[in-house]
Amino acid sequence: MPRDLESEKATLEGMPPLSKEPDARSPLDSDPLPLYRIPTSFVEDRFKRMKDLHPYALLLNRDDIEESDWLEHACFEPHEAASREKVGYYSLNVAILRILRSVCNQSYVLRLGFLEYRLAVCGELCSGLFSSAYATTDGKLGELVRTRQFPSLDSKDSDRRKVLLGHVIATKHAAFPVTDDAMDYPKDWRTNYQLTPSIGHNEDGETICLHSLCVHPDFQRKGLGGVLLRGWSQRIKDSGIGKRIALICRERLISWYEKAGFKLVGESKCQYGGGGWFDMVMEFDDVPSGDMEF
Ligand SMILES: CC(C)(COP(=O)(O)OP(=O)(O)OC[C@H]1O[C@@H](n2cnc3c(N)ncnc32)[C@H](O)[C@@H]1OP(=O)(O)O)[C@@H](O)C(=O)NCCC(=O)NCCS
Repeated sequence: MPRDLESEKATLEGMPPLSKEPDARSPLDSDPLPLYRIPTSFVEDRFKRMKDLHPYALLLNRDDIEESDWLEHACFEPHEAASREKVGYYSLNVAILRILRSVCNQSYVLRLGFLEYRLAVCGELCSGLFSSAYATTDGKLGELVRTRQFPSLDSKDSDRRKVLLGHVIATKHAAFPVTDDAMDYPKDWRTNYQLTPSIGHNEDGETICLHSLCVHPDFQRKGLGGVLLRGWSQRIKDSGIGKRIALICRERLISWYEKAGFKLVGESKCQYGGGGWFDMVMEFDDVPSGDMEF
């Protein structure tokens, strides 16, 4: 018998006999591929909840500032939002800021924002989770599209709107854990841009500071935030641009971040937004190589 047929015979002999009975072993026990392990009932349920949204992720850049600013305002209390309004008027109260915003040249205020700084200097560290819909679309997505002028997704189909459902905004910094200097930004970055400033984004920094993670309130608790965070963390880890991700969060979200692979460091010294934060970190050396668990 030719050698290749012989080896095929040996393989067939090694296989278990065909049977109509289901295999007693679960495929999840036997398959080492992490991707195959994803469809647990929990994950399936989560994907069911977000399936009508058809979400997709993109890097963010300066062109997304209007949308990111809108999302921050929808998701955070005014004193926590990393919005363009804060810039230059850091300690003014929000009511005054709103009046200022309405009387100021919009583009002037726009030029100065935290968001614009971060999206301009390190947009590659930021991710947006998008969906698209028409004003006639049923459900929450269509309702939202009818509330404001979202950008068109496609120039040939301008009624189809691109909706930012969630985003991650981050910078790199030398310090760990996250400090107020890491949260801030150099006010003269346009005219005196430096690669390694002591405040704001530092190209040599090895700590990726996650400053803002949010999902629009209409679409929270469908698993989008978890998918966005894990997908983004995996991308940052794989890109090799840093040693860890650090963030500050409120106490209520500590366990949620722990489930996504972060560890609690302790109470944060950051006074941003009035303080009361907790430091969390994901050290890439502690994460097994390969895919993170979703
Ligand atoms: C935190 C946030 C990004 C989570 O996004 P999401 O799409 O709702 O997250 P998921 O659906 O993947 O996970 C939901 C889980 O997050 C946790 N969670 C979300 N919001 C929470 C809240 N306000 N309090 C406590 N836990 C919360 C819960 O564990 C929840 O699980 P449950 O629905 O079974 O209770 C979103 O709630 C958000 O944008 N919040 C406002 C902005 C914010 O606080 N960002 C975090 C900055 S540190």
